[in-house]
Parts: sequence; C-alpha cells; structure tokens
Amino acid sequence: MPKLTVVTRAGEESTLDVASGLTVMEAIRDNGFDELLALCGGCCSCATCHVHVDPAFADRLPPMSEDEDDLLDSSDHRDATSRLSCQIPFTDALDGLKVRIAEED
Ligand code: FES
Repeated sequence: MPKLTVVTRAGEESTLDVASGLTVMEAIRDNGFDELLALCGGCCSCATCHVHVDPAFADRLPPMSEDEDDLLDSSDHRDATSRLSCQIPFTDALDGLKVRIAEED
C-alpha cells in the first residue's frame, strides 16, 4: 500500500499505509487525526481539511478546481503549497507524499 506521511500542527510526523480509493482527507481522518476537522465530509465546501503539500509532489497532484481555489482563499494560512485534502485522491503515484495539517483559521 502506498504510504502517506502526516505532520500535525505540533510537528509530529506519522507515516500511514493508505488503502486505495481513499482521499488524503479520508486517510488522515480515519487514522484519528482529529485536528483535521473535514466538517463537510469531503464535498469541497468547508476548507477545514486544508493541508500544506510537500512541493516535490506538486506536479503529481490533480489540478485545483475553481471551488477549491475559492475556498482556500478564505484561509489566512494559504500559501503556494496549500490544498484541500478531500480533493486529492490518494493513488500509488503519490506514494511517499508528505502533508502538514494547516494552521487553524
Ligand atoms: S472536507 Fe470540507 S472542503 Fe474538504
């Protein structure tokens, strides 16, 4: 199974084995990281699944939709590495991906 490394707001790193078919948000949430609220359940309407993605993987991520872009604009912590984790299906091509849970808005 491909591996995903998650860095919490406190800077603690954990590496997860992720079953195929999950999004990055689902993988984080299902492994008990309750600081990733994911309030809308993944339908791209809350921005509480905001993560910063390792720039080395930027060109392997799916393109950002206009809705995701607009929602990220509502965060004070947006930067060039920001994505909504519910909009990233975790595939084998992303094996080794590292994401950091964004600061709380
Ligand atoms: S879970 Fe709400 S936008 Fe991702």
